[in-house]
Amino acid sequence: MSKRIDVKDLDIYYGDFHAVKGVSMTIEPRSVTAFIGPSGCGKSTFLRTLNRMHEVIPGARVEGEVLIDGQNLYGKGVDPVDVRRQVGMVFQRPNPFPTMSIKENVLAGVRLNARRISSSAADELTERALRGANLWNEVKDRLDKPGSGLSGGQQQRLCIARAIAIQPEVILMDEPCSALDPISTLAIEDLINDLKSDYTVVIVTHNMQQAARVSDKTGFFNLKATGQPGQLVEFDTTQTIFNNPSQKATEDYISGRFG
Ligand SMILES: Nc1ncnc2c1ncn2[C@@H]1O[C@H](COP(=O)(O)OP(=O)(O)OP(=O)(O)O)[C@@H](O)[C@H]1O
Ligand SMILES: [Mg+2]
Repeated sequence: MSKRIDVKDLDIYYGDFHAVKGVSMTIEPRSVTAFIGPSGCGKSTFLRTLNRMHEVIPGARVEGEVLIDGQNLYGKGVDPVDVRRQVGMVFQRPNPFPTMSIKENVLAGVRLNARRISSSAADELTERALRGANLWNEVKDRLDKPGSGLSGGQQQRLCIARAIAIQPEVILMDEPCSALDPISTLAIEDLINDLKSDYTVVIVTHNMQQAARVSDKTGFFNLKATGQPGQLVEFDTTQTIFNNPSQKATEDYISGRFG
């Protein structure tokens, strides 16, 4: 299921504003890749180009290629809806649909994709996704209660279950723990570690310890000055980025000597 991503010379724009410049990288299947860097350097922008969510903003566009197992997401005739089914996304703030039950939240993405499923298949999928998101035991007796009745950490795992339920190849997460307490954060980190046996996982985080704990590879993004495009300064094994980076800007950032 898990897939390889090759980004080639990607430039990202919001209208005339060149937000991110010249990114090339390879993300291996069955791995966790973390993106770190100062606010405004384009981490979220770049992440959204990996499932064609960037272009939903009017005037937003990209140049370059993003290949998933060799297929260019931006190739002619590629349907962005298909892309988003292959590449799921979890956001910074848990965003379950408040009026839907826990179960309907898990199934929401599947229903949007207009896949008709029998009620026994729906039950099975709900259980599988909730187990995958490490939430099943906490909610199995209240599947018909609203998703909004869960704690923040549980809601974030529910959103991860919703992403898993559509059986993507890749899961993107933009600061998935920034609204969570330390215990829920550790639960999500454990889960990310489990997910990599089946998925390609890409996560944006401001938490350096988190990047060091959960990721195999780390990309450091930076921008030279305000108004300049963000760039990928260094991309390497997490071990190297944190212990022996090759760029001074990376070292300054990870050691807190930034700005
Ligand atoms: N919808 C938008 N329209 C125009 N410019 C945008 C839009 N979204 C982001 N930008 C700009 O693109 C640049 C990169 O923003 P982005 O949100 O990707 O940064 P980030 O690295 O994720 O920052 P943070 O760590 O604060 O989340 C910023 O200059 C930002 O102002
Ligand atoms: Mg961001």
